[in-house]
Amino acid sequence: QWTVVDEYATSHTHPASRPNTKALQDAHDQSLAAGLPNIAASPAQAKFLALWCRILGVTHALELGTLGGYTAIWLASENPELHVTTIELDAHHVAVARKNIEAAGLSGRIEVIEGEGIVVVKRLREEVLRGERERFGFSFIDADKENNWNYFDLAVEMSTPKAAICVDNVVRRGRVADAASTDARIHGAREVIEKAGKDPRVDSVVIQTVGEKGYDGWLWAVLNEKRE
Ligand code: DHB
Ligand code: MG
Repeated sequence: QWTVVDEYATSHTHPASRPNTKALQDAHDQSLAAGLPNIAASPAQAKFLALWCRILGVTHALELGTLGGYTAIWLASENPELHVTTIELDAHHVAVARKNIEAAGLSGRIEVIEGEGIVVVKRLREEVLRGERERFGFSFIDADKENNWNYFDLAVEMSTPKAAICVDNVVRRGRVADAASTDARIHGAREVIEKAGKDPRVDSVVIQTVGEKGYDGWLWAVLNEKRE
């Protein structure tokens, strides 16, 4: 039922006549054909993220976990001024993503960095703090779930004063509420929810989602204005 509703609604809210629909479908299809797991954001989810970038007037977005570049292509193709920096560990995923991004004509605005998330993000933070790289107005954290909090903490440091941060997959069919879970991904979801909730730098909320990707959810956080 959730899938049927997503397909019905998206066919109207983002019809085939839209300029980026074919590139997005191709990126999706090519990713699956290349053997990547079918865990990219749904069209509705990715468009929602793209609309947030528009609302916020984001010029530089950060993504952790490129996979085949599907979400990055959504963000950049819906926002003509947006530059996306996206990080991916898996060399095969990187190759597929770069091909998809090239085919979408977005190589000039999407930078794919291959490497271990924590190592790359720490390097980016140094570049941001030295003024060599723009701060990010939106960050999407969708990589190894064990590092959710570490990524979140570093993303806050690299953010613009009015930025938003979204962490994917923090509900996991409700299993996030199981304090006794031994699954490291559940632990990573709980850790970022609990630490973000105590973090004076942000206000946060968890939104549960259903759709063609099943039952899951996002942590959304908005930076608090600095008060002297
Ligand atoms: C998984 C990872 C994701 O980022 C996602 O959106 C869904 C599933 C996973 O590793 O199972
Ligand atoms: Mg995800």
